[in-house]
Amino acid sequence: MNDTITPTGAPSLAHFIAQLITTEGPLPLADYMSLALNHPTLGYYRKQDPLGVAGDFTTAPEISQMFGELVGMCVLDVWSRADMPKFTLAEIGPGRGTLMADLWRATNILPPFQVAADMHLIETSPALRAEQKKRVPQATWHERLEELPTDKPLYLIANELFDALPIRQFERLNGTWFERYVRLSDKGTPDAPAFEPCLVPLAPGAEDLLPPSMKSSPDGSITEHCPSGIALIEELSHRLAKQGGMALIIDYGFDGPAGGDTFQALRSHKFANPYQDPGAADLTAHVNFLALKTAAQRAGVQALGSIEQGAFLRNLGIDARAQTLIAKASPEQQSDIASALRRLTDGKEMGSLFKVLALVGANTPTPVGFSH
Ligand SMILES: C[S@@+](CC[C@H](N)C(=O)[O-])C[C@H]1O[C@@H](n2cnc3c(N)ncnc32)[C@H](O)[C@@H]1O
Repeated sequence: MNDTITPTGAPSLAHFIAQLITTEGPLPLADYMSLALNHPTLGYYRKQDPLGVAGDFTTAPEISQMFGELVGMCVLDVWSRADMPKFTLAEIGPGRGTLMADLWRATNILPPFQVAADMHLIETSPALRAEQKKRVPQATWHERLEELPTDKPLYLIANELFDALPIRQFERLNGTWFERYVRLSDKGTPDAPAFEPCLVPLAPGAEDLLPPSMKSSPDGSITEHCPSGIALIEELSHRLAKQGGMALIIDYGFDGPAGGDTFQALRSHKFANPYQDPGAADLTAHVNFLALKTAAQRAGVQALGSIEQGAFLRNLGIDARAQTLIAKASPEQQSDIASALRRLTDGKEMGSLFKVLALVGANTPTPVGFSH
């Protein structure tokens, strides 16, 4: 038996997707992205821990403990002004569990917080669940948001989750909108199938997904829609409206009229071709915060922001926190802390591209520093 054959019967995810396209025709982009990231055995997130220097990308909690600590201070502040209820403390897409571990350590300044909190993590990757168990063994794990308890206020964090949710892309050609699908490319070989985007006519109803301002955009215009991101926000918002609590959605993206191709692949900290070697690179798209905010408001919760990550962290006191850490650090650590502060807050690094949206549920005070 050939031991390179996977449990799906195909030697690689690229072969599996190629077989699918050969039998069923071009694949919607969202299905391609979903398989590349989440195929049960060959998907990017199912196979490995992708974070850190040895991985493909790094994230704010992995850059500095200050990130999780300050997110924790934001949650602690709102929860204490909400009269300190018993509550569900949840994170979706927790990576290595670093943010939650830093939040937990920092919130110990007010011990009733930890007595009242019941920690839940929503994670689909077995490799990352194992990492999370090392850092926050007290958590309860779930596959889906729907599995969280419904009887208490919910305080939920999502950092760099929404960019990993599959998107649909629409492109204008000859005065007509089409949807981008994925087909086999002539550049591939039987040993190494290759893929490329192609355009198919819009399915019924797809027209409604185009932003009204782009209905007659020039040829070459591209717009994106993230169906599972909108569905997740709707489910979350319905819960917050009923249960009370707050959600912080942090990610890279834009908050304004949608437009442009943001589908990208990251491999070993470099941009790669997202149509090559699916399952081997992280595939993402920028988050449309305006679309998330509109969906949340439609579902009946208050949506605040988005504000830029740099402003969010500064409002929570990151400069003072960095100074406290620097005062106790070795010269080498001092320069690491200063560099982390810059990476997290500077407009040329993560400070502007990354944004924070707050959803505030029933009977819950608003977090400080957000505008409507
Ligand atoms: C880019 S990583 C971010 C990790 C972490 N939040 C951080 O900032 O370091 C995306 C995370 O979302 C998880 N994930 C991806 N799709 C998911 C889904 N549909 N439901 C829950 N978790 C998901 C991944 O396994 C991973 O933990």
